[in-house]
Amino acid sequence: MFALNFNNTSMHIFYSKAALIAYIKTIKTANSTIGFVPTMGALHQGHLALMQRSLKENDDTVVSIFVNPTQFNNPEDLAKYPRTLEEDIKKMRTLSDKIILYAPSVEDIYEGNTISQEFDFDGLENQMEGKFRPGHFNGVGTIVKRLFEIVTPTNAYFGEKDFQQLQIVKKLVEKNNLPVTIVGCPIFREENLLAMSSRNERLSPEERKEASIIYEVLTQAKELFQSTNPKETIEFVENAFKNNERFDLEYFVIADESTLLPVDYKENDKKYRAFIAVFVNSIRLIDTISLN
Ligand code: PAF
Repeated sequence: MFALNFNNTSMHIFYSKAALIAYIKTIKTANSTIGFVPTMGALHQGHLALMQRSLKENDDTVVSIFVNPTQFNNPEDLAKYPRTLEEDIKKMRTLSDKIILYAPSVEDIYEGNTISQEFDFDGLENQMEGKFRPGHFNGVGTIVKRLFEIVTPTNAYFGEKDFQQLQIVKKLVEKNNLPVTIVGCPIFREENLLAMSSRNERLSPEERKEASIIYEVLTQAKELFQSTNPKETIEFVENAFKNNERFDLEYFVIADESTLLPVDYKENDKKYRAFIAVFVNSIRLIDTISLN
């Protein structure tokens, strides 16, 4: 264990699972609750909001910072993923010194065998991010399951920006009977309404400003969807990006919110959601909006 001392306060930081597990044994009681916020670091306001919620709703809060190699299908994306541990610790300390940080190495997590387990998430894994990032959700499932086993949380907090990931984690918990409650939390947006993401750090100021187009198009699509059908809405979005030199649309999908299957027509009593992935200068940004 490592305790950072500053102004008479300390934050518990663990780099090994053995030390974290031993510490959790000393704080956990039959009636106490542990909140858990898994992250890959480069923390932003969205992450901090998850932590704040966990701090409020649980006796103890564990945050993990681990850039998980098995969920990256693109080696360049993994290499360029921002790693800002010192800054992250400072940000967490502005919230609370009660946060317990787990920042393991790849070795600590994978023990020399850095591969994913294979999962069946009842098809949720085959759409959108799963389609365009082969193996991504096996990597997410592997790390989230492993972290749950180490941290043994009562509640775990995930942002809705990665809505497909949120549904998949709920499925992981259901299918494996894991004793944890998954809490989905609203998307945090920058001033220009770009969804907060660690990847935004890699955008130039100009790109970051112009990336407001993503949410603008999503809200226009939502409006259009009320009076038309999915096909026309999709065409509208594809056209909006067609002549844009800076932003390349990878996908825009309208899907049933529970199955995540793309839909061709609307039915009453179903909840729909739009999903978008856009490249700007090889940086991949995603966003989502509920349509009804
Ligand atoms: O959403 C993320 O940052 C990651 O996918 C997660 C859940 C921390 C697993 O590595």
